[in-house]
Amino acid sequence: MTRKQEIERRRTFAIISHPDAGKTTLTEKLLLFGGAIQIAGAVKSNKIKKTATSDFLEIEKQRGISVATSVMGFEYKGKKINILDTPGHQDFAEDTYRTLTAVDSVIVVIDVAKGVEAQTEKLAEVCRMRNTPVIVFINKLDREGKDAFELLDEVEEKLKIKVRPMSWPIGMGERFKGVYNLYENNLSLFSGSDKQRKEETVDISDVNDPQVDKLVGAQAAKTLHEEVELVEGVYEPLDLKDYLDAKVAPVFFGSALNMFGVREMLDCFINIAPSPRGMETEERAIDPMDEKFSGFVFKIHANIDPNHRNRIAFLRVTSGTFERNKGYNHVRLGKTLRFSSPTSFMAQKKEVIDDAYPGDIVGLPDPGNFKIGDALSDGEPLHFKGIPSFAPEMFRYIENADPMKTKQLRQGIDMLMDEGVAQLFTRKINGRQIVGCVGALQFEVIQHRLEHEYNAKCRYEAVSLHKACWISAEDDKELDKFVDMKLNYLAEDKDGRLVFLADSAWALQMAQEQYPKIQFHFKSEF
Ligand code: G4P
Repeated sequence: MTRKQEIERRRTFAIISHPDAGKTTLTEKLLLFGGAIQIAGAVKSNKIKKTATSDFLEIEKQRGISVATSVMGFEYKGKKINILDTPGHQDFAEDTYRTLTAVDSVIVVIDVAKGVEAQTEKLAEVCRMRNTPVIVFINKLDREGKDAFELLDEVEEKLKIKVRPMSWPIGMGERFKGVYNLYENNLSLFSGSDKQRKEETVDISDVNDPQVDKLVGAQAAKTLHEEVELVEGVYEPLDLKDYLDAKVAPVFFGSALNMFGVREMLDCFINIAPSPRGMETEERAIDPMDEKFSGFVFKIHANIDPNHRNRIAFLRVTSGTFERNKGYNHVRLGKTLRFSSPTSFMAQKKEVIDDAYPGDIVGLPDPGNFKIGDALSDGEPLHFKGIPSFAPEMFRYIENADPMKTKQLRQGIDMLMDEGVAQLFTRKINGRQIVGCVGALQFEVIQHRLEHEYNAKCRYEAVSLHKACWISAEDDKELDKFVDMKLNYLAEDKDGRLVFLADSAWALQMAQEQYPKIQFHFKSEF
């Protein structure tokens, strides 16, 4: 196979959803299709969401498991599929945002009864920022839920994307008979006992085929006719370009738990989902077909073994071919690094690989060289764009609780911040350090990990802050004036950039009004 063919057959994506919509179940079913696992129940995703906040052991266990399921690669109908896992717990949302920088498309899972939930909305916003193509899977049709038209309206409104149904449900809950596949012109019938439901597909000439009445009953067939007529009247046929430009989302209906409607979606997905797309860097646009190697780190995972501080940096290959033992330029450090045991994640097994192509995710054993966003290249100084940190909304002062372990604490905090667990701000006025997170669970994770991995102790003190946002100004004098006036409310982030600490929404608004020449940024990238 040529390099071009290798790249074109890759599909790298993430499944996103609000917790409990069925992401883990769907992932598992996809892996079953790919033969990557043999039995249901094998994917124990990083379901930290069901864990009590204080249950550290459980968190640790989950973190360990999630290394294995961070990337799941498998082959299906000649395509190489890479699913990137995203944490379910909303306190780890930032992790998910970053993972979304490494995918070419997403599948959004929506619970038919709950509709579009908060977390899904937020994640879809990140996809919108990046023009990531979206396929929607409406799940749990074996249960009662919202009307299909109502749901589609909700998706259009809340996810701010047009939709195009690719299948149409026939009833739901107890009356769920199956789906009509609009683009294949066949019926997938939902039958069998509660536990052992089987999918049977029947080809029909069109929805008015008299077979439909026989197969699903006259009443359901009548409703189906009416609804399909409406669908065809209301929704434009799928335009592939619009899907790839993230303007329209194809929608499937099914039940992941019953493996129903999943094959249809997967078959459509491998045909229409994009192969590895180009990436933007500050220097130039990167084409995956470029011969020269490049890649960036989007996630760092600490090893759970407290005796070994080794981490795994997850690198997305963006161009060229990654080769084992070849020297690559670590752009930020200006150092050449070689990797003797890079790993890939095929069929849930971690294995050492010799090479990898654009779209692939490589696990690099890392003694502490990497931080999120770092680039590796053939020598060219590249800086990837679009791997932002978000303005955190939860803050605590972090203090050393064991003066004998100052060095360990500093080192531990540094490493955790490089991993992107949280952000650290140093107050200009007194040098006190503030940890900012997107979710409260992070504070406990930090405290626990400092103790167990770095042998250091910290304690937190309350600090009343509403938001920390990055500031800049065209005119240095304006910035100096602002710094003079607001010194009490200023800090530096880890890279020495100025951050405004607003203690209330009102204070932020006032500062914005009083200093119109200062720009306030809610993402680290501006
Ligand atoms: P998540 O990763 O998005 O958080 O969701 P997950 O797959 O864990 O699914 C959440 C719950 O919804 C699970 O039940 C799962 O079995 C159920 N589920 C997923 N797909 C379907 C479906 O198509 N129909 C129905 N009826 N249920 C579905 P649970 O009881 O919370 O967990 P478990 O004990 O079954 O693992």
